[in-house]
Amino acid sequence: SMATAMALSIALTATFLFFLQGLRVEAATFEITNQCADTVWAAASPGGGSQLAKGQSWSIQVPAGTTSGRIWGRTGCSFDGNGRGTCQTGDCNGMLNCQGYGQVPATLAEYSLNQFQNQDFYDISLVDGFNLPLSISSCKTIGCLTDINSACPDDLKVPGGCKSGCARYNKPEYCCTDGYNSSDKCKPTNYSMFFKDKCPQAYSYAFDDATSTFTCPGGSNYKIVFCG
Ligand SMILES: *[C@@H]1O[C@H](CO)[C@@H](O)[C@H](O)[C@H]1NC(C)=O
Repeated sequence: SMATAMALSIALTATFLFFLQGLRVEAATFEITNQCADTVWAAASPGGGSQLAKGQSWSIQVPAGTTSGRIWGRTGCSFDGNGRGTCQTGDCNGMLNCQGYGQVPATLAEYSLNQFQNQDFYDISLVDGFNLPLSISSCKTIGCLTDINSACPDDLKVPGGCKSGCARYNKPEYCCTDGYNSSDKCKPTNYSMFFKDKCPQAYSYAFDDATSTFTCPGGSNYKIVFCG
């Protein structure tokens, strides 16, 4: 009958919409704000780059399922009208509109979206060293807000930043490579402990997972603040 056909059609439409809702995979928004006194040139992989004076923000949309994404701040940059130039720290192949990863040392906000059991994983990494304090806020806020540069041991100091033991010496025991490529073999060192003491929530070496990896439900949005 007409009524049955109508009811069936409504039921089918409802079912279709229900599945569409379940399958819709949303992008995540990252809002990046500079609270540092000086200008920061934000870099994002994926995402590009943007010059941020104190108090300015830049938002990017990142596709669901993105893995190994990272965001960091570049300091002491000068770019020409075509967006070509250099930065003292975090330089991204000389391009304002960053494509790929940047130079060490730089404090990194890292993330992988919609992974195991549809969780987002995120962290702050000092594995390659530090240049700027930053925080990440989502379902939980984590931060590395200490000025590590002013406390940096002389042998790790570079203009505008503080290299990790790994970035400075490139030794397997600091970088967790070669014979040290597992969590049982790669342990904290006096260099990684210097960073961990300053920023207990941040990765200080490659296998520092237990205290440095954070999760939020897939579909979360993120705020990243330099110096705040
Ligand atoms: C770590 O130990 C090495 C070797 O003992 C020493 O030269 C270096 O200054 C130490 N670094 C820190 C940050 O304590």
